[in-house]
Amino acid sequence: MGLLELTPVAQDLASTARMMMQAGKGILAMDESNPTANRRFAKLGIPETVDARRAWRELILTTPGLGEHISSAILYDETIRQTASDGTAFLMLLAKAGIIAGIKVDAGAKDLAAHPGEKVTEGLDRLRERLAEYRQMGARFAKWRAVIAIGKGIPSRGCLEANAHGLARYAGLCQEAGLVPIVEPEVLMDGDHTLERCAEVTEAALRSVFAQLYEQRVLLEGMILKPNMVLSGADCPVQAGVEEVADTTVKVLLRAVPAAVPGIAFLSGGQSAEMASVRLNAMNVRWRDKAPWALTFSFSRAIQQPAMELWKGDASQAAAAQRLLYQRATANGMARRGAYQPPA
Ligand code: 13P
Repeated sequence: MGLLELTPVAQDLASTARMMMQAGKGILAMDESNPTANRRFAKLGIPETVDARRAWRELILTTPGLGEHISSAILYDETIRQTASDGTAFLMLLAKAGIIAGIKVDAGAKDLAAHPGEKVTEGLDRLRERLAEYRQMGARFAKWRAVIAIGKGIPSRGCLEANAHGLARYAGLCQEAGLVPIVEPEVLMDGDHTLERCAEVTEAALRSVFAQLYEQRVLLEGMILKPNMVLSGADCPVQAGVEEVADTTVKVLLRAVPAAVPGIAFLSGGQSAEMASVRLNAMNVRWRDKAPWALTFSFSRAIQQPAMELWKGDASQAAAAQRLLYQRATANGMARRGAYQPPA
């Protein structure tokens, strides 16, 4: 076997990663932790209960045609164990729709000691055992999110390194368990920083992540990167245009992400659903033929939010909410091809 030939286990990981990145499709993030799901429900007056969360996730997973534009869905520990109201396991609904199941495994971003305003993601304790259980249940990939804030004097080197190390340790354990790791270093859009500052921080964060992935012997062919788009801070008075965002984002990625990575699936991070689609579309229109990796989506809010705002916990709105969800999935499936036409 040649030095760089993949073992059968590595080939399996690489082939799952390629399936997740298949043409015209992307990833649906529906892995909000209970506190995050409850926070989004509370804003819309939806009860913060296990039943309401189950009803919402059932609505998503029974959306007709969901698998046309969604290759994979990221679940949460509560959701991966749940069943629909007729007793069908959620995992079975996914399998029927031809959607690959994955699971969020981090334990959340906590304050980083001695680094005011900065976070580090926890969850490595007992991760090996948890991954084995999820794999046995049917998950084929996992997700871990690190959070990097931009502000006065931050991010610090200590924060970038701690988060990159956590991501790499997690990714190594995933591959050992036969799961494709989604590696998510999210540089937040909160703040009044410029596009240039976001580009600089995103490049630094990605370089730390790939250095650590290398040290931990993570197989690049068997992972997916989930980064932020490079954006002007939400409170920056000058907001970069769509093409500038698309070009800056891809140029930063070209500098920092090895070509062996099969795909890049962006988070939406609080952008409006429409802007997330338009920006992803511009990246594919302008770069698809030049970039070495697939450029697709792994959105939560930018797919779910419009439908959730219509549903608001009211069963009589479920079908209409599913149509909105399908519309966002379709828009992003088209954006992944560079063929999205925004409504006039
Ligand atoms: P958003 O698309 O809402 O940023 O969520 C993606 C995600 O999974 C964050 O971890």
